[in-house]
Amino acid sequence: MSAIKYKNNNLFVENASVKNVASKYKTPFYLYSNSNIVENYKSFYGNFKKVDPLICFSVKANSNIKILKILKKMGSGADVVSGGELLKALKSGIKPNKIVFSGVGKTEEELKLAIKKNILLINIESENEAALINKLASKMRGKTSIGIRLNPDINAPTHKKISTGKAEDKFGLSKKNLIEFCRNIKKFENLKLEAISVHIGSQILNENPYKKTLKVLAEIISKTKINFKFVDLGGGFGITYKKGDRKIILKDYSNLVEKFMKKYNCKIIFEPGRTIVGNSAILVAKIQYLKKGANKIFAIINAGMNDFMRPALYDAIHNIFPIIKNKKKIKGTLEFVGPICETTCKFIKYKNYQKINQSDYVAIMDVGAYGASLSSNYNTKPLIAELLVSKKKITIIRRKQDLLKLINN
Ligand code: LLP
Repeated sequence: MSAIKYKNNNLFVENASVKNVASKYKTPFYLYSNSNIVENYKSFYGNFKKVDPLICFSVKANSNIKILKILKKMGSGADVVSGGELLKALKSGIKPNKIVFSGVGKTEEELKLAIKKNILLINIESENEAALINKLASKMRGKTSIGIRLNPDINAPTHKKISTGKAEDKFGLSKKNLIEFCRNIKKFENLKLEAISVHIGSQILNENPYKKTLKVLAEIISKTKINFKFVDLGGGFGITYKKGDRKIILKDYSNLVEKFMKKYNCKIIFEPGRTIVGNSAILVAKIQYLKKGANKIFAIINAGMNDFMRPALYDAIHNIFPIIKNKKKIKGTLEFVGPICETTCKFIKYKNYQKINQSDYVAIMDVGAYGASLSSNYNTKPLIAELLVSKKKITIIRRKQDLLKLINN
């Protein structure tokens, strides 16, 4: 049950009324619910309780240190894709033996950092990357633990820009190349091949591609004849952003994972991002202007695609709700747009939206994943603040970026 909901027509995040928060802090800002993050983590773990997986939160979904600290406290590890994310995960207190490092283009500097910190696994995505780690490891620490990422050639229905598991995608090694790599692993004297990993895409609302992926993994593992200590099943589990979005059902999958784990005697790792933080935040913005267009009304809000990219980048649907509901209606179409000088700086259209006025506050919903972490300084706009609500208490977990610092940089 989400802690972001209406009480008597007023939107609340836990026990804080959004109206009160918006009158105290300057909009726009991200507003998170601590309890949603905690509950999502528990519920994800609960789905796979019998498997007792290592959950490595995918830091790219949200890299705010305070949020990483909440997850660390819950027992989470981290899935990182850059030296910066690795340092942030460590700074939040997550132990190196709970960190996995994925990505197709890790630099020498990033790999050195990962080797030096002795993280759980560097999940390699090419033979040449393995060769570089082998060379660095021989100079630095000797045997370094790696995982190898499989490209299972599975088409998981999702937005074409966030699918990762098809043969044409740049991620992982093809089945053939992976088997070949495993055969020749001995030539890499300083690598300890401990894991096989897979990640088929993001915002996946159907469990079938996951089940298919397990089958492919079973087939590949038996061909390699390697007893992998870890099998990293990635993330990608979708959430319901809009009416009609199917809810992914993980029960059967979880049973299959349990059988798989027993058969191959391995520790299971998951790398969820969106499922843990997606519904944990709203972006509170003010209606700067209402403007009559030729055939619709524009509500121009003070947050733009630089603050929240998903609609512009993936045509993602995120509802925008008033923070105070009323029963009056505007006739015709209303479109929420932002201030950035790009046609795609627009959010969502509604027919017969409730009556709104200039200076009213609204909330872009479900922005906890790939919201703040994907934001930018486009149009030389400072990054906006992030606030966290825990019951009634409000904490600034990232200050709004200083404009002078931004322009003098
Ligand atoms: N593991 C790997 C190797 C990944 O590449 C990703 C996401 C995850 C885990 C976490 O996936 P999640 O559980 O959050 O779906 N910016 C896009 C999503 C890009 C996902 C990239 N990889 C969006 O806003 O939809």
